[in-house]
Amino acid sequence: SLRKFIVAIDGPAASGKSAVSETLAVRLGFLHVNSGAIYRCATLLAIRNDLLDLQFKKNLDRMREILKETKITMGPLGTSPIKNENVNRPSTAIFLNGENVTDQISKIEITKNVRFLAKIPEIRAASIEKQRELVQSKNLFETRADSKVDGVIVEGRDIGTAVFPNADIKFFIEAEAKARAKRRFDELVARGLNVDINGDPVDYEQILEDILQRDQEDLTRTHSPLRKAKDAIVIDTSNLSLDQVVGKVESSILKRLAELEED
Ligand code: CDP
Ligand code: CDP
Repeated sequence: SLRKFIVAIDGPAASGKSAVSETLAVRLGFLHVNSGAIYRCATLLAIRNDLLDLQFKKNLDRMREILKETKITMGPLGTSPIKNENVNRPSTAIFLNGENVTDQISKIEITKNVRFLAKIPEIRAASIEKQRELVQSKNLFETRADSKVDGVIVEGRDIGTAVFPNADIKFFIEAEAKARAKRRFDELVARGLNVDINGDPVDYEQILEDILQRDQEDLTRTHSPLRKAKDAIVIDTSNLSLDQVVGKVESSILKRLAELEED
């Protein structure tokens, strides 16, 4: 069997991790594991089961049980019954026990509540277990016949530092908060997801506020906070198009693959 080749992509909210990972997963035939989506799925499960208040041990235990029982899978949209015509590039669909929750977990209610779960060590441990399982799972993306490796792109906040510290190549993708808020706002509008639970429109200012708050919490969390791995390739994308970022990341990956072939 082919050697596993792990690409770690970390960075703050809406810096472009998913867009880059989704585009390159299809282009390189690599599996894409979106760790943020796992925290979002856990949040959806907590809301559905009325378990957001995880300071109670009973709730935390129940939540861990639910996470253990729930199958989270990720794959290209082709494997999903719902096609997202609003996103004009390859995108990864997220399934919870087979249910397509891709749009549901992108909604602002989920985004606002992820922090309650992401700060709890037991939930992080359960999430990391799922990430490792997914990395070992069957690649639903079309693999390339000429590929010399079994490639996986794992994206999140702590992939290069905590989850896969021995990844073959690491990236840290960042951009100014305002640029990220603008991108996320445009994306939500394009997907028709710029409304809250009451059906009221969510504006750019709210998105910016949310991003600043999440930056703060991601950076100051005690367990696996967001920080650059020493050996990460840092890309500031504030003034780059998605194509330009994809090009930079792809050429670094191809260079690393060529180095490995020489060994
Ligand atoms: O796409 P966006 O950057 O808005 O968020 P995400 O990557 O989907 O992650 C959702 C939330 O999960 C973030 O606010 C992070 O706080 C948390 N997260 C985390 O704690 N650790 C990770 N490896 C990935 C996400
Ligand atoms: O995964 P993460 O939260 O880091 O960000 P994302 O969801 O991939 O990116 C947010 C939005 O910014 C997407 O709609 C991208 O197409 C767009 N974008 C980008 O990712 N990179 C750029 N250089 C420009 C726009």
